[in-house]
Amino acid sequence: MGPAFRVRSIDFREMFDDLVRAWGGESLVARFDEPTQAWMFIGVHSTVLGPAMGGTRMKTYDAPAEALADVLRLSTAMTFKQAAANVPYGGGKAVLAVHEISERGSAKRALLLERYAGLVESLHGTYVTAADMNTGAADMDVIGGSTTHVLGRSREAGGSGDPAPSTATGVFHGVVASVERAFGSPDLAGRTILVQGTGAVGGRLVELLSDAGATLLVTDVDRERAHDAAGAVGGGVVEPDAVIGTACDVYAPCATGGVLSATSIPKLRCAVVAGAANNQLAEPADAERLRESGILYAPDYVINAGGVIHLAGYETLGWDDAQMAARLAGIGQTLRNVFDAAEHEGITTAEAADRLALARLDAGPAG
Ligand code: NAI
Repeated sequence: MGPAFRVRSIDFREMFDDLVRAWGGESLVARFDEPTQAWMFIGVHSTVLGPAMGGTRMKTYDAPAEALADVLRLSTAMTFKQAAANVPYGGGKAVLAVHEISERGSAKRALLLERYAGLVESLHGTYVTAADMNTGAADMDVIGGSTTHVLGRSREAGGSGDPAPSTATGVFHGVVASVERAFGSPDLAGRTILVQGTGAVGGRLVELLSDAGATLLVTDVDRERAHDAAGAVGGGVVEPDAVIGTACDVYAPCATGGVLSATSIPKLRCAVVAGAANNQLAEPADAERLRESGILYAPDYVINAGGVIHLAGYETLGWDDAQMAARLAGIGQTLRNVFDAAEHEGITTAEAADRLALARLDAGPAG
């Protein structure tokens, strides 16, 4: 063992100890997969409400320790999301830390997914996987060849397909509930809504909001995508770096996390933040910054739960479209309850959402 490796291993040991102790989850599975040279981490944060369910993120990292930190953080967030969504799942997440994202449909990618599926299968259902960043329904189909503990396969392969449209529908109901709370009426006519990111979720959200009478502003680092989305609904395009200072009634982050921070919040010119992106707050204190600024924040994991509701509802609970529509609309009611609790307790909406999730965890599985 060379000195450089020793230094790295000591650093890693200390960091590992700190991270995993602070995590408080149930179990962590780590594999260095020799044939693919990938690190595979599965974080089973909680099975209190059911098997730990959450997506598989495929990503390149500077060091495996960063992938480990990600899986711990993301699996914790999934416990809160599943509990707030009231589905029979606990929180889990997986990270495949790879040297490069191999091409979709390639033999290299298939090998990685098959070996990873074997790891999922070895947990006998304690962890149930789904798609996340850089993975999609086609990847779930491959994983489904080696394990049954996977949700979100394509419809052709017997799954429920891409959950993004359901996520968009849930966010739409969340925007309506937030507008109602901030302006005293749920009517979107005459409200200006800025959608940041017009991908799978944001693109559909733009359509739903426009159909309900809202005026749309859109932005995307992919300029063509932004122009197409805006053109389809007669909306305006905002430059990606001008989002924070742009006046609007509702800012809907649907691209990346960390957009609400000590730097961005004082510059916001909106009454409501309600969008699909995960981890919108750069740090927990940002929830209080928003409250002090008089901006109503729809907690991210509550408003964007349409994806897990889609997977659990269609694939585990056997719901039909009408039941799904009702449960996605229920995201609006969950938010109203969160807003009420925040007002009554004099706490942030983020804390009120956490309390709701923790109460469900305390109560244990339904029925
Ligand atoms: P996507 O990858 O289809 O779309 C993201 C869009 O944002 C892309 O068009 C991309 O070009 C754009 N973008 C990236 N960085 C940007 C920036 N700085 N400024 C403006 N645009 C930017 O992703 P998807 O599925 O629409 O998800 C959007 C967000 O919602 C993500 O944060 C995701 O984690 C979250 N989410 C998605 C769910 C789903 O069902 N797809 C479920 C829950 C959360």
